[in-house]
Amino acid sequence: MCGIIGYVGQQPAVPIVLEGLSQLLYRGYDSAGVSGLISPGVLRIVKQVLPDGQFDDFKAKVEDSRFPESCTNAIGHTRWATHGGRTVLNAHPHCDGSGQIAVVHNGMLENWRELKAELIGLGCRIVSETDTELIAHLFALKLQETKGDIRQAILSTVSSLQGANGILLQYARYPDLLIGIRKGSPLSYAKLDDGAFMVASTGDPFLPYTRRCKHLRDGDIIIIQGGKVEEFSFHNGRRIPVSIPSVELEGSAEDVALEGYPHFMLKEIMTQPERLPDVLGGRLRLETGLVKLGGLEASSLALKKLKRAKHFWFIGCGTSYHAAQIVARMFRQHLHVHAEAKQASEVTLDDILSGCSPGRSVVFALSQSGETKDLLDAIEYLRARGVGLVAGIVNVVGSSLVTLTDGAGVYLRVGPEIGVASTKAFSSQVLVGAMITVWLAQQRGQLSPDQSIPFVRAIAEIPEQLRVVLAQSEAIRKLAEYIMKFTSLMMLGRGYHYATALEGHLKVVEVSNMACEVQPAGEMKHGPLALVTDGYPVVMVATRDSSRTAILHNISELQARGAFVIGITTDGDTEMAKIVNQAIYIPDTPPELATILAATSLQLLAYHLGLLNERNVDKPRNLAKAVTVK
Ligand code: AGP
Repeated sequence: MCGIIGYVGQQPAVPIVLEGLSQLLYRGYDSAGVSGLISPGVLRIVKQVLPDGQFDDFKAKVEDSRFPESCTNAIGHTRWATHGGRTVLNAHPHCDGSGQIAVVHNGMLENWRELKAELIGLGCRIVSETDTELIAHLFALKLQETKGDIRQAILSTVSSLQGANGILLQYARYPDLLIGIRKGSPLSYAKLDDGAFMVASTGDPFLPYTRRCKHLRDGDIIIIQGGKVEEFSFHNGRRIPVSIPSVELEGSAEDVALEGYPHFMLKEIMTQPERLPDVLGGRLRLETGLVKLGGLEASSLALKKLKRAKHFWFIGCGTSYHAAQIVARMFRQHLHVHAEAKQASEVTLDDILSGCSPGRSVVFALSQSGETKDLLDAIEYLRARGVGLVAGIVNVVGSSLVTLTDGAGVYLRVGPEIGVASTKAFSSQVLVGAMITVWLAQQRGQLSPDQSIPFVRAIAEIPEQLRVVLAQSEAIRKLAEYIMKFTSLMMLGRGYHYATALEGHLKVVEVSNMACEVQPAGEMKHGPLALVTDGYPVVMVATRDSSRTAILHNISELQARGAFVIGITTDGDTEMAKIVNQAIYIPDTPPELATILAATSLQLLAYHLGLLNERNVDKPRNLAKAVTVK
């Protein structure tokens, strides 16, 4: 995915756009670019590849370009390459042949080949490898065809584009004009107190100025001109005036600032004790054990379907898939129902509903961004097969996922997550999953509020219990130093903690780029044990639960072959602490919730390994915060 932003108003636009781009970098950091309208008819464009995601050189280059203060209209872009290599030529913004139209784009034109051939046939000279450049040429042609009628030219342009796209256009002839189009990829805008307008992929860049904004819905188009905004929707080539609802942005300007931390990843790990209470706030009644989830109770139809459902699917990608595995297991354990987790990218390749009655099946879609294309496609696929209900467990308010659910779901409410490596979102997804488990058991009469009290209280204790884990960061950093003597490591867990090991593995791989083997602990001796050499680092989730005895055997098998076993152990389990080579302690809590505490220690391990490997931990190589393309 990419980050797009624009500003039009009375202030110098380029510094505002640059600041906004720095907050959108997590969406893609292969290259960046800015286009400023420096005088009627004249656009100045500065763009650059970002080596290792570094933004400062680009920022200096833009500042050295001395955009005049009179430049009050600018757009900007941070790129995660999909079409064409990571080159300056492919960096956005892109222009038409006349240099009058500039465009920045998030998404992918699925019909780009046909479009390119058509445009070349019409005499356009395409200079980049991107699909985005085609939009600029197409809009310029449509302006000619419509004799400069901007609205008609937009409608005609949009009707020629296929795929999921968020688009922002500048037209040099009009210094007070910005055009925003949402057709499958998110786009939001805000009117600032001084009458200026900002348009961006997400609301994060608005936060230093306002918390009120509008999320365009699919098909919505905005034309900002002369200090006014026209909102309309595009349906079958026709322009239908709409009124886009205004929303309060989650989070604050502080959320998108480092606030003294060296990296967003560390900040988002370390501030969980302060942020996770927002996830729980108002949803748990500790004294009665009652759980209240308005997003699932609001719709009586959704409630009825949830109560009658026989099959539950939890789908997600990456970290969200790991959280999905944990929540699916909670449903099996506490609701005694058929519940499975599935990688969203695999759903369309597998008839997962076979043997299930679709109408009695419920799908929970887990996502931090709510924009993961594989997940959105999976939902469409399952909906086409008649699933009874789609509910979301998502962080970003107004994201595409929200529009695809049946108006049912639970927001994480953990604030913007900027680090590409998902950390606090994972903890929040598991916490929300635990609350949904208790809530549904209560709704289905399987658990009384009274019986729920111990587990509800265990949920409520997690934010504070995390402080015990976070306090071991220096000890975990020393373990990372030990691991650095090797080129790879292994992560193992059983039961709930296989998902914990998977999550730790993903963090290590994406943030430090070290090779990391991950297995259910019981599978290690069926092959991966061959990797173990003298001193080889193996991280074992060895908490006090039903798999403890088997884990003890696995540790002996590993140590018999020289492994250095780092055990994530339950505080007070002195026997286990003595057996492992080095212990990381987590407070005692049910295994469903211990996954959060254990995973957080692994997030810290990955962070330290990333630094020791001199990686850009907030902008991992080749990755982006949300993968909005297939
Ligand atoms: C996790 O650290 C990764 N950034 C990635 O696997 C991520 O979890 C995945 O792309 C899903 O993103 P989502 O939660 O926004 O849908």
